[in-house]
Amino acid sequence: MRVECSAMQVMLASANPAKILELKDILGQAGIEVIGLGDRSSTQEIETGSTFTENALLKARYYRDVSALPTIADDSGLEVEALGGEPGVRSARYGGPGASDADRINKLLDKLRNVPHDRRQCRFVCVAAIAWDGGERTFMGESCGSIMTEPRGQGGFGYDPVFFYQPLGRTFAELTAAEKAEVSHRGRAFRKLVTWLRSSGALDTPTSGDRIENPIEVPSLAPKR
Ligand code: IMP
Repeated sequence: MRVECSAMQVMLASANPAKILELKDILGQAGIEVIGLGDRSSTQEIETGSTFTENALLKARYYRDVSALPTIADDSGLEVEALGGEPGVRSARYGGPGASDADRINKLLDKLRNVPHDRRQCRFVCVAAIAWDGGERTFMGESCGSIMTEPRGQGGFGYDPVFFYQPLGRTFAELTAAEKAEVSHRGRAFRKLVTWLRSSGALDTPTSGDRIENPIEVPSLAPKR
């Protein structure tokens, strides 16, 4: 007898290649097959919310409606205490249109130029959202650190070279992909999502194309449609 186990398929609403790589890894290990946005354009114009949760849900709902697939999205960013939580939800847009990761890092270091070591605490935050035709859920992860005075390391993306993670004594850009996934905000949020997804059975369908007959009761954050 041949037993075939099909992977659970979800759409991943992200246009950030570095982020997609991290997430494919985390979700793939849990047997979840990720379908990318393909040539669909960036998600930035959908991110009109004022919180990570709002933005993650806006992206997940939008691409669930476009694709008719269960859709996972995340919104993430860096919050620096001495800057009142900046750049926060604007982390990707910090430095204005056309700015590169290096430009954003320079802007941040410039703003923190006179801030001493013991006042450079910060955290990365990630909200992972899943929206399907039976409901939606969000999961939050965070990772605390401090901002370096200059970049260090070649790995990762975004603000990784200036994010110092004390428990490992290195910046996120000096970690391997597996080490980063273990301790990062994104790893933490998505492991919560995967654990819930596996135990709830919310997306389980007997054959492909079947609708969920009795989705479990989950509080919906969405406006009634
Ligand atoms: P998002 O695609 O709207 O979630 O934008 C997140 C932005 O926050 C990214 O473009 C980065 O600038 C920053 N960011 C989020 N997560 C990370 C990370 O793991 N490392 C470095 N920067 C990050």
